[in-house]
This record gives sequence, structure tokens and C-alpha cells, in this order.
Amino acid sequence: MSDKELRVSKIKDGTVIDHISGGYALDVVKILGITGRERRVMTIAINVPSKRFKVKDIVKIEGRALNSQEVNRIALVAPHASINIIRDYNVVEKLEVKLPKIIEGIIKCVNPACVSNSNEPIAARFYVQSEEPLWLKCHYCGYVLEKADVLQQL
Ligand code: CTP
Ligand code: ZN
Repeated sequence: MSDKELRVSKIKDGTVIDHISGGYALDVVKILGITGRERRVMTIAINVPSKRFKVKDIVKIEGRALNSQEVNRIALVAPHASINIIRDYNVVEKLEVKLPKIIEGIIKCVNPACVSNSNEPIAARFYVQSEEPLWLKCHYCGYVLEKADVLQQL
């Protein structure tokens, strides 16, 4: 590595979300509820060259391991991401994101007339009809949300 290059460093403890489709790192960060004001060291790399895909994004969160619910959320915006749990500089766990069959409590139905958007205490619920392209069908009104509808809500 020449002195003209600066490579993103390895982390000691935490989570590396790798192989995010190029351009979606900020959506991954948002769907995890991360604001950047958590007093944690985080590294976000966008559109870096990748062997497997042409370009990829990477998110490194130091000092925090993601739980399985958080890992599943990531699948909504980055279905090919791999999650690496790092302890003492070693990858101790590698998880593939997996979209659950039912999505609850993360996003709202886009149909304003949907009962899940009324004053009734009804939580939005969707069935995953297709992962790629993403199609989420509302349990209550049958409206089908696409990825753009999800991204818009983050
Ligand atoms: N990583 C890191 N800090 C560490 C260890 C790994 O930031 N202490 C990062 C690596 O830079 C890489 C990811 O975590 O982006 C996965 O690491 P590793 O499994 O070693 O890399 P690959 O073999 O390339 O992963 P894959 O097989 O998933 O492509
Ligand atoms: Zn609905």
C-alpha cells in the first residue's frame, strides 16, 4: 500500500456489515435506528470496489454486536449483506441476512385508508411476496409495497 492510499482499518470489537449493494449503506444505518450521535466509532464506506459485485458499501460499528432482529431488518434494504461479528480482531460469527416471511412494526402501509393507519391500535403487518424485487403485501388492505416505499419511510 503506497502512502497515497488510506485503507479502512480493521476493528477490534463490533459488527461489520459487508456486501451491501452500492449506495444503500445510509439506508442500512437508518433502518438500524442509528443517528451517528451514539458516541460510537462507525465507518461507512460507499461504492468501494468489490470482487463479488462491482461495487459495495460497508458499515462498521465498533463496540456493538447486532441482534438477530436487527440483522433481519437489514434484509429489507440490503438482501445480500453479510454480517460479521468481530471480537478481539477476529470474525467470530458470520451471518447472512434473511428476510422474515412476515414484517411487523418496522414500516407503515402506504394506503392512507388502510385500517392500520386509522386511530385503531393496529400494528402494520406485511407478507413478503417477493424478495427481489421486494414486494410486501399488507395483511389488512392488500396493498403491495415496493422497496422505494420502504426507503421513503426510513
Ligand atoms: N473486518 C474488520 N475488522 C476485523 C475483521 C474483519 O473490519 N477485525 C472486516 C473485513 O474488512 C471484511 C469483513 O469484516 O470487510 C469480513 O472479514 P473476513 O471474513 O475476514 O473477509 P472476507 O473473507 O473477505 O469475507 P467474505 O468471505 O464474507 O467475503
Ligand atoms: Zn394496508
